[in-house]
Amino acid sequence: MEILIIGSGGREHALALALAADPSVTGLHVAPGNAGTAALATNHAVLATDPAAVTALASRLGVDLVVVGPEAPLVAGVADAVRAAGIDCFGPSAAAAALEGSKAFAKQVMAQAGVPTAMAHVCTTPEEVAAALDQFGAPYVVKDDGLAGGKGVVVTGDREAALAHGRACLARPDGAVVVEEYLDGPEVSLFAITDGVSAVPLVPAQDFKRVGDGDTGPNTGGMGAYAPLPWAPAGLVEEVMARVVQPTVDTMRRRGTPFAGLLYAGLALTRRGLRVVEFNARFGDPETQVVLALLRTPLAGVLRAAARGTLGDLPPLEWHPGSAITVVLAAPGYPEAPETGGVLTGVPDAAAGESGWDAAWVVHAGTDRHDGALVATGGRVLCATARAADLVGARERAYALLEGIRLAGGHHRGDIALAAAEGRITLP
Ligand SMILES: Nc1ncnc2c1ncn2[C@@H]1O[C@H](COP(=O)(O)OP(=O)(O)O)[C@@H](O)[C@H]1O
Ligand SMILES: [Mg+2]
Repeated sequence: MEILIIGSGGREHALALALAADPSVTGLHVAPGNAGTAALATNHAVLATDPAAVTALASRLGVDLVVVGPEAPLVAGVADAVRAAGIDCFGPSAAAAALEGSKAFAKQVMAQAGVPTAMAHVCTTPEEVAAALDQFGAPYVVKDDGLAGGKGVVVTGDREAALAHGRACLARPDGAVVVEEYLDGPEVSLFAITDGVSAVPLVPAQDFKRVGDGDTGPNTGGMGAYAPLPWAPAGLVEEVMARVVQPTVDTMRRRGTPFAGLLYAGLALTRRGLRVVEFNARFGDPETQVVLALLRTPLAGVLRAAARGTLGDLPPLEWHPGSAITVVLAAPGYPEAPETGGVLTGVPDAAAGESGWDAAWVVHAGTDRHDGALVATGGRVLCATARAADLVGARERAYALLEGIRLAGGHHRGDIALAAAEGRITLP
């Protein structure tokens, strides 16, 4: 099977690593890709959000499957265009990707499907925003309806700041704002692969959104992740599948917009039970790095079955025992004003660290090679990823790997998976 992956971040390199390890994969292409994907696949230049350009590339390469990584191409209709050209595609249609592309739409589907989520109001005027803020009270949660690259949500005790964010979102063309009740309790990311009818869960993961240790500083695309969750209540995955994933998949199908691809449920485990924080329509970054590190079943056949509607025929997925962690090395100034162009040293070859089960390796995110030198090209530069018998061992390996890597001004969190490794996460 020849595969084309669309995207250029850590998620796409992690997908490429998993697919390259699958013996059924005979050719691997990534567009646009990064320095990590260049080492195990062929990179191609493409505007990932241009459905016609992606389809033309896939046709020219003669691939059997296109795997779309990020949300923007999905919302732009890349999966629709690829499928219309008769090529299998892993990733939902634009209509189904609206589960991520519009938080108001997601709320509507959840209401229809009976999925537990925060109470919310969709507002289109500052007066409605103010009324909703006062109804729910502090802490205030204000969300831009549309895609905002991780910058659309403000959670604050400051009513003026909440109102100001609402106004800023409404100022955008067709702006709408979701104001919702505050959810307490730890967050969980659960990915499910679905063909629009059946759905298969991956292992639950947790990511770290804030830039600084102890969850301080501004939100980022994600500074690290680990899986599985030693503190998760028994039966969590089954409960999420029964109360969230399957009802959503069924409702999307009944609405005439079946969701096939990766349904990512962002959850909060509150004192009143689980609640959906948001849906995403694609693999999360950096959770994918740890989830795929633990997956034993060859990935290509699973993604193709989802694309073809034959997921129900597959045997259950198999998993490595143990834990995985990934720690993001970010460029100086990230997330406010990332400074790119810095030279990276001490980065081992992708393959070098990967020999054993108990291992550490680099997943590239924003990297490129200039005259042989490895250069940072994005805010999130690379991810030190490790797998071991438990979280303590996985943390040691990932942080030891990071120790040897140099990027002037680069920064990373030192506490990824620390509370979980020390048994300090409690459920409300
Ligand atoms: N209702 C809520 N209560 C408390 N925190 C929330 C709530 N909704 C979102 N958050 C916090 O804000 C983060 C971003 O919100 P999310 O809905 O996931 O938007 P996005 O990922 O599109 O930025 C979440 O990971 C969570 O930490
Ligand atoms: Mg989120």
